[in-house]
Amino acid sequence: MRIAMIGAGYVGLVSGACFSDFGHQVVCVDTDTAKVEALNNGEIPIFEPGLDELVAQNRKQGRLSFVGDIGQAARDADVIFIAVGTPSRRGDGHADLSYVYAAAKDITASLKKFTVIVTKSTVPVGTGDEVETIIREARPDAEFAVVSNPEFLREGAAIRDFKHPDRIVIGTSDERARRVMSEVYRPLHLNASPILYTDRRTAELTKYAANSFLATKVTFINEIADLAEKVGANVQDVARGIGLDNRIGMKFLHAGPGFGGSCFPKDTMALIKTAQDNESPVRIVETVVAVNDQRKRAMARKVANAFGGNLRGKAVAVLGVTFKPNTDDMRDAPSIPLITALQDMGAEIRVYDPVGMEQARRVFENVTFCDSPYECAKACHALVIVTEWEQFRALDLKALSATMATPVVVDLRNIYSPEDVTRSGLLYCGVGRPQPAAY
Ligand code: NAI
Repeated sequence: MRIAMIGAGYVGLVSGACFSDFGHQVVCVDTDTAKVEALNNGEIPIFEPGLDELVAQNRKQGRLSFVGDIGQAARDADVIFIAVGTPSRRGDGHADLSYVYAAAKDITASLKKFTVIVTKSTVPVGTGDEVETIIREARPDAEFAVVSNPEFLREGAAIRDFKHPDRIVIGTSDERARRVMSEVYRPLHLNASPILYTDRRTAELTKYAANSFLATKVTFINEIADLAEKVGANVQDVARGIGLDNRIGMKFLHAGPGFGGSCFPKDTMALIKTAQDNESPVRIVETVVAVNDQRKRAMARKVANAFGGNLRGKAVAVLGVTFKPNTDDMRDAPSIPLITALQDMGAEIRVYDPVGMEQARRVFENVTFCDSPYECAKACHALVIVTEWEQFRALDLKALSATMATPVVVDLRNIYSPEDVTRSGLLYCGVGRPQPAAY
């Protein structure tokens, strides 16, 4: 198959590289010329484990290329994927579909034969209909079908997720398009990955329902964590105790600083807006968003509680700023409102992240950027684990304790054993675990 992938970001680049690895001929198109130039020079603009090798191999085999202009790629393509951003629209929280519609307009002039146009971006119900209208109005003669194929990969494990998905969802009522999509995903058919064929609107809604459900699960365990602290229980044992029930499942039951990232915040908000527009409000999701929004400041108060509620004159070391480990993505990262709240409370902030420092420098002001966790902790009054990078699990706690002004560890990801930390001479405070006396 000849595939054009519009948008070479986290989703487009990974999808394009994986499709080429399946043996398809893939051209990734991006309007960001610096990105295209970097990719053509063999540089990968994002941090995603394994992506550099995958891109290099497939470029070398001549199956993957990068261009700035859609024209030729769209003319040759059997399938055109739209994988551009759909951020929250400033002001009202609806999904901003301007990039998707611009991409749809960009391809109209080039359609020459039957082409399947696929929205891989996360888009509200009805977007596929609108894309179809845009193209039909510009090109009444064109032969095409618009399909919804939402993406479920997770940053940090994106290649594995793409190649071994829990499921693939394909929304179309067009038989020809269905056959083409089945060919596109043939290697996964052979892998026995479940492929769910449905109509377009159902596919669009499925993606939002999935992300909102996961956000709800996280928010639920976070509230149980707060209650556990009040009643002297341990949320990790509660999570295990409920998660071993197959109906509930263990995943997404890790209490922490609240969800963030490039998808959950915008997707929960967009679902709320779609639901309100259709006079069918999703009140559970509305509550999830409200609870989660308050959580980052609550986590800052957790740090302040170790110092009588006041952080004036205190230095706080923040370890991990990306929204999760194994990515450099800082979009809507919990570290952002958390650091702002700590600064509001008077704290001086020092920051370290294994791969997110370049992005962090663009995001944070009045912060000291450090080269290692130990440098970050130096002379600090509290050390806060915000993102659970693997390397933080293996830190020498005694060495940290020796370098800090006051030995307080606030572990917002529960990566440490409270006993180990306490034995190293540090005061330990986790999430949803029995709290130290100072609290
Ligand atoms: P991104 O911001 O990393 O990438 C989007 C890319 O599209 C950018 O490089 C931008 O320059 C390019 N672009 C915008 N308009 C264009 C146009 N007209 N022609 C060519 N290129 C254009 O976004 P990301 O994270 O890859 O997300 C894309 C979509 O996938 C969003 O709808 C998102 O919700 C969804 N998604 C994202 C996941 C993630 O983990 N990042 C996971 C699953 C879905």
